[in-house]
Amino acid sequence: MRGGELLASEVASQIAIHAEYGGVVPEVASRNHLRVLRPVIAKALTDAGLTLDQIDAFAATSGPGLATSLMIGASAAKGLAVGFGKPYLAINHMEGHLLSPFFGTAEGVRPAVGLIVSGGHTMLVEIEEFGRYRLLGQTLDDAAGEAFDKVGKLLGLPYPGGPNIDRLAKEGNRTRFDFPRSMLDSGDFTFSFSGLKTSVRYLLPKLTNLPLPDLCASFQEAVVDVLVEKTMRAARARRQRVVALSGGVSCNSRLREKMRAACATNRLELLVANPALCTDNAGMIGYVAALKFARGETSPLTSDIDPNLRLVA
Ligand code: KG4
Ligand code: ZN
Repeated sequence: MRGGELLASEVASQIAIHAEYGGVVPEVASRNHLRVLRPVIAKALTDAGLTLDQIDAFAATSGPGLATSLMIGASAAKGLAVGFGKPYLAINHMEGHLLSPFFGTAEGVRPAVGLIVSGGHTMLVEIEEFGRYRLLGQTLDDAAGEAFDKVGKLLGLPYPGGPNIDRLAKEGNRTRFDFPRSMLDSGDFTFSFSGLKTSVRYLLPKLTNLPLPDLCASFQEAVVDVLVEKTMRAARARRQRVVALSGGVSCNSRLREKMRAACATNRLELLVANPALCTDNAGMIGYVAALKFARGETSPLTSDIDPNLRLVA
């Protein structure tokens, strides 16, 4: 990052490696973090046309996430900070997602209702201003992305299920199977996706063939309906005019389409990050780090990683 500009963002995807196991194996993930760390830093510097001694501050994700992976990133950033005599910034993974839709906008971060939908989280958050967030509600069990991935597995699709379901759903009938819209009438902003996954599981043995596109389209519609409806209600309840959609699942084409339509109907402005900034990436962490650094905030070198780090205390 330089000013408001992203000079480089390297993602060393481990999807191909984890696909062999059908999901993320923490030990495998951290070993690969170690292996790719130096080449990734080198590539980012080359792309940005910079050398390490030209960097003003070093940041890393301090949580939430897998402990061993967080530790490798944070240790590297701290080591560089010490070595080059520059500050270190510990960044919350969820704040990275939450603010990613504001990246590159003329106004920057402003009041909004944020929906974060990732593999580990499903949260509705009110953004009052940069650094001031209020948790409106979250999932009681599976995250939206987790539901996509688990249902993908049930359907025999490669890991991760999300993008594969999205692709197959395009050819499918969204109304063929009437899956539950859990918690739609709960009157609050909590979510639950494990019942939906269970109803897919119970349905499968009853089917003589596997109409994959229809199953994907009907399942996806149930997830999207709840996400969109609760977001609209949250915007109404909090009198917010902007919706900021983020996290890996915000790449989903049907979620984008329905959220866009609902926002237009309700005269809300929708901000969604470009897909490269939706799934986990360094750019969104760099963006938050740059905002903090501009305000003079840094983190002590003694600050630790926290696999369960919360966005709102
Ligand atoms: O934000 P992210 O990259 O990592 C976490 O912080 O968890 O989100 C990954 C999740 C996975 O569950 C993946 O299946 C889901 O995002 N995902 C999608 C799509 N692209 C990624 N889910 C539905 N449709 C997509 N197009
Ligand atoms: Zn993430």
